[in-house]
Amino acid sequence: MTRGRFLAASVAGFSSLSAAILASSLTSTSFASSSSPKSTAVVVLGPLPNDKNDSGVRGLVTFTQSKSGSSSQPVIVKASLSGLKPGKHGFHIHSLGDLSKGCASAGGHFNPIGSPHGGPSDSFDKRHVGDLGNVTADENGNVDVTFEDSLLTLQGELSIIGRSVVVHADEDDLGQGGHPDSLTTGHAGSRIACGVIGRGEDITA
Ligand code: CU
Ligand code: ZN
Repeated sequence: MTRGRFLAASVAGFSSLSAAILASSLTSTSFASSSSPKSTAVVVLGPLPNDKNDSGVRGLVTFTQSKSGSSSQPVIVKASLSGLKPGKHGFHIHSLGDLSKGCASAGGHFNPIGSPHGGPSDSFDKRHVGDLGNVTADENGNVDVTFEDSLLTLQGELSIIGRSVVVHADEDDLGQGGHPDSLTTGHAGSRIACGVIGRGEDITA
């Protein structure tokens, strides 16, 4: 409860219990509000300078996170991609935004607590924070998907801003494939597209 709310409630003659209930209902009202401030981040996927192996994959990925509340809010991920082989492709946050040697220099999967590789529905100790699973390209090679992730954040020390998004040639087995690299990279094959996660404008929507 904020001091201001407590004082306002006291002045209005509420008991401290009523004040607490009022304060929490005010808080949940502001959580539910559709006009809460949100942080955004944007990734443009396209050919890199001096890229001799342009895969032809292009796209835009946006991340949006409400700034309301003290605990971290889920991040909404929206990916629009083209130029892919139809089917599933590993889709991750890698730890670095260094694309000076193409997608190869983007580091490994963003993994701040040293977990094994997993899938997006695994708990935080059984997946990398960057493990967003797969995106599925339709028969024309396009992806248009929106999903939510509860481990990503755009705020604080563990923010994904300045890191990168990498799309892979093959399907991520989510750690379940039994290959030597299933528990590190999901056996997702080569890196066919990547982009740096840039800070976007704060929005109120
Ligand atoms: Cu990856
Ligand atoms: Zn991983």
